[in-house]
Amino acid sequence: MQLSIILKESEKATLQTQIFDQIRTMILNGQLRGDDPLPTTRELSAQLGVSRNTAVLAYERLIAEGYIRTKPYVGTFVSPDLPDTAFLSAGVEAPGAVKADASAESAEGAEEAPHLRTHRLADPKRRRLVADFWVGRPDSRTFPLKAWGQHIKARLKSAGTKLTTYSDPAGLLELRQAIAKHLAPARGIVCDPDQIIIVGGCQDGFNLVGRLLVKPGSTAVVESPCYQGAAFVLESLGAKLHPVPVDHDGLDVSQLPHAQGALAYVTPSHQYPIGVTMSLQRRIELLSWATQYDAYIMEDDYDSDFRFVGSPLTALKGLDRNERVIYLGTFSKCMGPGLRLGYVVAPRRLVESFRRMKMLMNNGQSWLEQAAMADFMASGEFGRHLRRIRQLYRERRDALLEALHKHFGECEIYGEQAGMHLVWKLPDSFPSAEEVEAKGLAAGVGVISLATGSALRFDRNDGGDRLLMLGFVALSEKEIQEGVARLATALKG
Ligand SMILES: Cc1ncc(COP(=O)(O)O)c(C=O)c1O
Repeated sequence: MQLSIILKESEKATLQTQIFDQIRTMILNGQLRGDDPLPTTRELSAQLGVSRNTAVLAYERLIAEGYIRTKPYVGTFVSPDLPDTAFLSAGVEAPGAVKADASAESAEGAEEAPHLRTHRLADPKRRRLVADFWVGRPDSRTFPLKAWGQHIKARLKSAGTKLTTYSDPAGLLELRQAIAKHLAPARGIVCDPDQIIIVGGCQDGFNLVGRLLVKPGSTAVVESPCYQGAAFVLESLGAKLHPVPVDHDGLDVSQLPHAQGALAYVTPSHQYPIGVTMSLQRRIELLSWATQYDAYIMEDDYDSDFRFVGSPLTALKGLDRNERVIYLGTFSKCMGPGLRLGYVVAPRRLVESFRRMKMLMNNGQSWLEQAAMADFMASGEFGRHLRRIRQLYRERRDALLEALHKHFGECEIYGEQAGMHLVWKLPDSFPSAEEVEAKGLAAGVGVISLATGSALRFDRNDGGDRLLMLGFVALSEKEIQEGVARLATALKG
């Protein structure tokens, strides 16, 4: 059999990505259906005149994302588990902004709002430890200081009135263009620069989205457990948090509420804190739920620049046919949180509201940092920087896995395929994660229980007491080995 795939040499996307995209579109459009056979990679490479390896890589990515599967000795087929209805709902026109009505039930939540809870930031005064496996903190030694300094200097020279006037609250156009260009191949998100609002990191994005979409008493679905920084913002705006458990496939969508106009906060690429990736099936069901209930999804893609197995996974926003997803990206993890730079990709119908809300909040971000980031991206340095640190962080992750294995034998690990931290489920014979954290600190090693790692738990019986978070990117391999060895001695003692 032959597939109608047309490859263009002139396209910016690689041949492998073009094949991936076109087969994926055929599946999403229903041209290919569950269990339909696909050509072998040999047939496909002959048909398209590409190397066999190109076809193999495209298929591997489709398999990794759950679109197709192979049956040994039989062939390759479209995955049977994809619910066609979810894809074919693309034509359904979704109504306008979220309607949250202040019902009697929701008034209760509003009264609870004044209590302001906050998350925990990495403490600069934290005692100097031999090895600190703090989560979410990049390695300061990898910041591209020299290049950054050059861009800042060059921009200052030609700044003209840029530092003495206001500019577009949505952000510098050049940066928004560079981000849109980056997102298509990196995250599978095709968007216009107009849809992008530059924000002061995800935290600012949570506020922007929350101020627009949360009404006192409205429902905010959050993962259980979830990242405190987002949940507490929504709570502070009067939302009623509705926790939905997370398992190996991410958010358990079968437990989503039947709540009209809800806002759901999710971390599909690398669930915070547990680290699992949301399955394709669940992603599709989550999108269907949002369409059905006129809900929006806030996708926090905080550390997705780092994926250590296979090709990068398409973001939830990349699958979003009905514009229900608001995507949040940040430069805090791949560059540094001191920059306070991130971005929101807004559904078209919300763009103008987002721009105005950003203006009400703070008139937009600093021009100079935006300009330097735009130049850093446009020059190709950002891409090279990402490749370099991805490789470095992979080596550190491997060193951590190896050290854990060496000192503790077989370990049950979650979330090691991506991101900046992994999670170790402690064996039953060990003390709780909080006790392990305390013993580690006494021995000069920082390992992180969920509470310390700014994870919000809703269920004391969720098994979170036994989960230990280990950030691995800010430590050298030697520090990692030393840290794990010390922890092992402390625990044996
Ligand atoms: C899951 C998650 N989302 C968002 C953020 C915040 O990032 P930003 O610095 O972009 O506000 C963090 C910070 O650690 C995080 O862990």
